Amino acid sequence: MIKPVLKMGDARLLRRAEDVTAFDTPELHALLADMRDTMKSLDGAGLAAPQIGVNLRVVIFGLEHNPRYPEAEAVPDTVLINPVITPLSDEIEEGWEGCLSVPGMNGKVPRFLRIRYQGQDEYGAPIDRTVDNFHARVVQHECDHLDGVLYPMRIRDLRDFGFSDELFPEEEA
Ligand code: NI
Repeated sequence: MIKPVLKMGDARLLRRAEDVTAFDTPELHALLADMRDTMKSLDGAGLAAPQIGVNLRVVIFGLEHNPRYPEAEAVPDTVLINPVITPLSDEIEEGWEGCLSVPGMNGKVPRFLRIRYQGQDEYGAPIDRTVDNFHARVVQHECDHLDGVLYPMRIRDLRDFGFSDELFPEEEA
């Protein structure tokens, strides 16, 4: 079921989410179905459970080719629960991000270029990947939601933050 996405300003986006302790449960599968429906309806690349008001450490992400990210590489459809991110170098890259909780805006955000991420899928099976570039950016963005961090909080220079149609007028239909 498509759920309303909380928007920046809602205090529920600022909480630390809680660990998932039970896997392969009807409740967890129902949450993931809602998250997938909601993300798909808004053409997003990722969604964290707190964005639909569920305070659990669950994120989904993935895209083949998304018109919102025309230059982004494909990222496999992933369910990531109780994630742990380890940066694999000090190298930071700035890149444009958007967020379904900050609709109509984009900002340039510094992220680690290369990370390892670990966690579990909805069945409790371990996930352990080493990724870089856009895949690494998406994971860092989504996992930030689990710690109550929205991307505008990470923007270094607020001149790199604005309305999408002003920042990228050529992309408007
Ligand atoms: Ni987001």
